[in-house]
Amino acid sequence: MEIEHVRNRFIKHFDGTTGSIYTSPGRINLIGEHTDYNGGFVFPGAIDKGMIAELKPNGTQTVRAYSIDLKDYVEFGLNEEDAPRTSWARYLFGVCREMIKRRVKVKGFNTAFSGNVPLGAGMSSSAALESTYAYALNDMFGDNQIDKFELAKVGQATEHNYTGVNCGIMDQFASVFGKKDNLIRLDCRSLEYQYFPFKPEGYRLVLIDSVVKHELASSAYNKRRQSCETVIAAIQKNHPHVEFLRDSNMDMLQEVAHSISQEDFMRAEYVIEEIQRVLDVCDALERNDYETVGQKMYETHYGLSKLYEVSCEELDFLNNCAKKNQVTGSRIMGGGFGGCTINLVKNELYDTFINDAIESFKSKFNRIPKIYDVTISDGARKLI
Ligand code: GLA
Repeated sequence: MEIEHVRNRFIKHFDGTTGSIYTSPGRINLIGEHTDYNGGFVFPGAIDKGMIAELKPNGTQTVRAYSIDLKDYVEFGLNEEDAPRTSWARYLFGVCREMIKRRVKVKGFNTAFSGNVPLGAGMSSSAALESTYAYALNDMFGDNQIDKFELAKVGQATEHNYTGVNCGIMDQFASVFGKKDNLIRLDCRSLEYQYFPFKPEGYRLVLIDSVVKHELASSAYNKRRQSCETVIAAIQKNHPHVEFLRDSNMDMLQEVAHSISQEDFMRAEYVIEEIQRVLDVCDALERNDYETVGQKMYETHYGLSKLYEVSCEELDFLNNCAKKNQVTGSRIMGGGFGGCTINLVKNELYDTFINDAIESFKSKFNRIPKIYDVTISDGARKLI
C-alpha cells in the first residue's frame, strides 16, 4: 500500500489535481475480547497495515468516491436520505453523517482510497476506513475541533447506525490512538488508557488467518451483546449499581443463575473472567513474565470457544497446533466466527510452528492459512 499508488489513481480518476492524504491502521488485540461493550478492559495496538485515502473538496454537496481495490465508483449526497447502497460506501457516508451530527460542516469532496488490512480477518479493516475518514474530515472541514476520542466514537456510531453492527469502542480507539511499539490498555468504562511499551525480547507475535470469513454483521455478534444485557438486567434487580458486567462478579452471577438461560450464564462467566485476565496480563508484562501472558491467552481461547462460543473448527485447530508446537500463547483474535489466531511464540520455535501450521491446516482443510507478522505502529494521521 503506497501513497504514490493512491495519488496516481486519484489524479487519474478525478480532474488531475491533488488533495490531502490520510491514513489509519487496523489493529491487533493481545487480550480482552468482547469486554469493550461490557465496560471492561481491552489491550490492543495498531498495526502496520491500514487504509490510505486522498480527499479534496469539490465545491458541491456530493461525495465522489472511488475504491481503488474494488475498482468501484460511487456518488452520494450528504443528507440522511442519500445513503448509498454499496456496502463500502456506507462506511464513508456514515462517517460524513456522524461528523455532521457533531457540527462539522462537511461538504462534497472527491476521494480515492486503498488498503492492505485483510478483509474479514478480525484486524478491523472497517475501523481503519472509518478512522481515516473521521480524521480527514475533521482536518479538512472541522478545524480539528473534534477530539480523538470523539473521532473513535464517530467510527463506532457509523457501525451502529449505518452498518448494523453493535460493536464496542476497541477497534476505532486502537486505530486512532495507536503508537509505535506500544499496546494500549483501555478501560472501556472510564475511557482512561495507558500505553505499555511492547517489544517482547526473544518472542514474536504472529497472526494466522484461517481464511474463514467472519460475519460480524450477522446477528451472532449482536446476539452475544444481547446476552450480556440480559444478564445485567437480572443482576441489577439485586444490585442496582451494576451498569456493566464489569461491575459484577461471579457471586452476583451465581445469584441469578436460576433466572437466566444456561447460555447467557456462560457468556457472562466468560466476560467476567476475561476482564480479570487483561489486568493479569498487564501485571505479567511488567515483570516480563511472558509465560503467564501466554497461559492467559490460552485461557481466553478456551473461554471464547467453549463459553462465548465464537470459535470455529479451523480456529480451534490452529490453537491446538500452537499448543502442540509449544507456542507460549495462542487464541482467537477479534470478534470471532473466523478470522485469525494471535500467537506469542519464541523466536527459535517460530519456523517449525509456522511450517507445521501451514502444512497441517492444508492437509486438514485443503486451504492455505495466511501468515501475518505483527509490527505495532502509529494511529490515524495526515501523510501529506
Ligand atoms: C469486534 C468489535 C469490537 C470488539 C471485538 C471483540 O472487533 O468491533 O468492538 O467487541 O469484536 O473483542
